[in-house]
Amino acid sequence: MRSFFIFLGKGGVGKSTSSASLAYTLADRGERVFWFSVDPAHNLSDITEVALDKVKNVFKRLDALEVDVSAYMQRYLKETIRRMKSLYKQLSVVGLESMVDALRFSPGMEEVAILYAVGEILDAYADKYDYLVMDTPPTGLSMRILALPKINMEWIHVLRMWRLRILQKRQMIASVKGRDYFPQDVALDEGEDKVLGEISRHMDFMNRMWDTFADASCRKILVVNQDELSVKEGLRIKETLKELGMSLAAVLVNKFGLIPGRQIDVKGAFEGVPVYEVPFLEGREKLTVEDLFHIGKGWVEGVLSR
Ligand SMILES: Nc1ncnc2c1ncn2[C@@H]1O[C@H](COP(=O)(O)OP(=O)(O)OP(=O)(O)O)[C@@H](O)[C@H]1O
Ligand SMILES: [Mg+2]
Repeated sequence: MRSFFIFLGKGGVGKSTSSASLAYTLADRGERVFWFSVDPAHNLSDITEVALDKVKNVFKRLDALEVDVSAYMQRYLKETIRRMKSLYKQLSVVGLESMVDALRFSPGMEEVAILYAVGEILDAYADKYDYLVMDTPPTGLSMRILALPKINMEWIHVLRMWRLRILQKRQMIASVKGRDYFPQDVALDEGEDKVLGEISRHMDFMNRMWDTFADASCRKILVVNQDELSVKEGLRIKETLKELGMSLAAVLVNKFGLIPGRQIDVKGAFEGVPVYEVPFLEGREKLTVEDLFHIGKGWVEGVLSR
């Protein structure tokens, strides 16, 4: 994979359209492109007009997928419960399965599940394609997904430290009372402790996702319109990215000219970031592939060359 493109911006500004435009343009140049959405309310299939519940080839070497976030979350929770039960046998009696529905709506669950879904996609497809293009959920959720690896790494680090202390205490007790003081399935060493293994697995995953998002090959493209609200939200996105040590690769002022004479100084607002104006294509019931090429004309080249 050469680049992983992520489209960000306020609802309705044209994130899906812009991601489609990039994906189709790249594929038209002969590149292998994987275009996917982790938006619980997808709309890639409105553009392709074929269901994307599994990976489908939609144009030249362009394959697309809409991740079923709700089904993925269900699977993710079941798998997590299975893992927890294998760590703590006493959990078998608690009836954790019955909590799947409640857990699904717990704060942060959707973000974690989506992050794991993105991780799986990267594992499965990063090597097979030249470009990965991701269409995203609404701003708040997208930003939390990008921030999650960093936040997670901070508290997993503490969790790991506590687990190591527990193991040290066990070793001290065993050195006085003998190994048999503990049942055989109670680990004393780092290498044999499944809980520590699970913490490390989670830590490795978060590290890997952090590396992916923070890497220069992960290009975040902000889409705004000529309206103050979308520009303000865009500026907040830029600030949040900055706090995470990330930056914008480009800003697209989509639907440019929709309101004739409307002047908003987007270039001034996003100083230092390349800003491209993307024309509003009037009178379309639905955008065609030709329209998508047209929409990409003014910026795809620029974005790729940087
Ligand atoms: N440059 C354009 N010219 C004409 N129509 C456009 C253009 N860009 C987007 N649209 C239209 O605007 C609507 C919203 O675009 P799109 O679905 O891409 O936005 P979005 O940011 O992905 O929205 P959501 O936040 O709901 O996912 C669609 O009907 C799309 O066809
Ligand atoms: Mg969309």
